[in-house]
Amino acid sequence: MSKAHAESYDAAAADRSKHAPSAHDASVKPFRVTFIIRRFDPEVDEEPHWVDYDVDMYATDRVLDALFKIKADQDGSLTFRRSCAHGICGSDAMRINGRNRLACKTLIKDLDIDKPVYVEAIKGLPLEKDLMVDLDPFFQAYRDVQPFLQANSEPPEGRERLQSIKDRAIYDDTTKCILCACCTTSCPVFWTDGQYFGPAAIVNAHRFIFDSRDDASQVRLDILNDKEGVWRCRTTFNCTDACPRGIQVTKAIAEVKQAIVRGHR
Ligand code: SF4
Ligand code: SF4
Ligand code: FES
Repeated sequence: MSKAHAESYDAAAADRSKHAPSAHDASVKPFRVTFIIRRFDPEVDEEPHWVDYDVDMYATDRVLDALFKIKADQDGSLTFRRSCAHGICGSDAMRINGRNRLACKTLIKDLDIDKPVYVEAIKGLPLEKDLMVDLDPFFQAYRDVQPFLQANSEPPEGRERLQSIKDRAIYDDTTKCILCACCTTSCPVFWTDGQYFGPAAIVNAHRFIFDSRDDASQVRLDILNDKEGVWRCRTTFNCTDACPRGIQVTKAIAEVKQAIVRGHR
């Protein structure tokens, strides 16, 4: 790091600490929270088992902070995925008190800490270690719906493909997906039939099926008209409830079903 960069980094760090949440002021005391985490090490365990950890937390901490503290201070072998820590990358989906959530978006103050907080891996995908599952089947379903723009013609010379505000609004909701898998792994159909495409793949198909610049919507509608496609959905809304981005997942699935019945988007 250059001297100039180091100085601006130090100044930014000092500024951040000046504006740090009051919960981390010396006058604010942490309180103890018990986390019960479902652990599994394939090298030594036959079955997963629950382990308790007491952690000092502040109300403004997130469950992800608790996992960091446990890993740093109590058991360095605790395994979980995370990247951005700010609800953008979608890597830290887990079941917290029986509900799929992002650990980095789940504040301690929003949990009932009079009781232990239960944390386990998302369901329906092969468990690899502790809170980490094998996401390959999830991403394979995503790839299978061809989630990329396919246009038969070249864009007009010297400019981008234009789209009206009204046409853009049709699929705006489904552009927000961060591929966290909270929806697919809360779906009872996916739990019982791992072949089902699952809501996340359908959401990402929707994003391109209804894009007026795309010419492959019929290909995707045919893919999702398969026996493991949209017709497996039982409209139970678990996926919509689980989505940390607030996407109307079940509505998007219904719109894809309607497009299949209509025979076009
Ligand atoms: S609405 Fe459909 S996709 Fe969503 S959880 Fe229920 S069955 Fe699964
Ligand atoms: S639709 Fe929502 S819950 Fe499902 S993968 Fe995308 S962001 Fe996650
Ligand atoms: S770590 Fe990126 S969404 Fe939580």
